[in-house]
Amino acid sequence: MVRHFLRDDDLSPADQQRVLDLAAAFKKAPLDHQVLAGPLAVAVIFDKPSTRTRVSFSVGIAQLGGYPLVIDSGNSQLGRGEEIGDTARVLERQVAAIVWRTFSQARIEELAAASSVPVINALTDDFHPCQILADLQTVREHKGHLAGLTMTYLGDAANNMANSYLLGGATAGMHVRVCGPAEYLPRPDIVADAERIASATGGSVAVTTDVAEACAGADVLVTDTWVSMGQEDEKAARVEIFKPYALDEAALALGAPDAIVLHCLPAYRGYEIAASVIDGPQSVVWDEAENRLHAQKALLAFLLESSL
Ligand code: CP
Ligand code: NVA
Repeated sequence: MVRHFLRDDDLSPADQQRVLDLAAAFKKAPLDHQVLAGPLAVAVIFDKPSTRTRVSFSVGIAQLGGYPLVIDSGNSQLGRGEEIGDTARVLERQVAAIVWRTFSQARIEELAAASSVPVINALTDDFHPCQILADLQTVREHKGHLAGLTMTYLGDAANNMANSYLLGGATAGMHVRVCGPAEYLPRPDIVADAERIASATGGSVAVTTDVAEACAGADVLVTDTWVSMGQEDEKAARVEIFKPYALDEAALALGAPDAIVLHCLPAYRGYEIAASVIDGPQSVVWDEAENRLHAQKALLAFLLESSL
């Protein structure tokens, strides 16, 4: 049966641990895992802009011995309205996996439903699960473990990153707190899914509008842009709405003294995160960006191995 990775909870706790273990091994020996040797091609398709995802998948697929076929959908028939299912049926005969950054979650679900090769979500409006794998790898490197740690997300708590922290963090047995203005909190169904996972892993989930409550004693403090791709027209209003939820020095001081700071990047200093925080000693954002490479290589290897 083919395995896809469309949202964070497509990996069970044991699967996630296996991927993170593989990611650590791949990081130590980047060229020793030729699972795409042949070379097998992997399609990496973008409906939205990208720097990290584009580079890390391209480099990672090449390091696995494969061939990255990077497609900007604006230059493809998909961008002119070719059916998603037909695209899957064409690609699956020529590539080992399909990685897609797109808009609605329904689009990637439609692709996966028609594809006999693994489909990987490289960001949708609802989730960014590859990013969370890299983040978990980074936290594990700096803290030695994941289960039992408190991870707090501040800002636009209705966006893809907040949703993925809820599901991915709960899967790892973490205590996940997400905090934002009342009108920008995660969907109840996603919170319920995270709570169900957390009850099995020993983690927990908290959703709040109170920054002090969210940050108190946190081991990991995280934020993301206030203006996600596709929301550019709302920038002025969003900057006002999210201002009280910035990851600034005051918020950082509420966390544990040895708290680490994550940001998926791109970052907007002086908006969602203070320059002194992202460029300060508690920030591990460059490790986090590098780990996209290792985590996604591990994910590809895992999905190919478990789809056999
Ligand atoms: N964090 C992240 O996904 O970055 P890109 O948008 O540059 O790929
Ligand atoms: N929430 C952001 C993440 C960027 C990597 C967006 O969707 O644009």
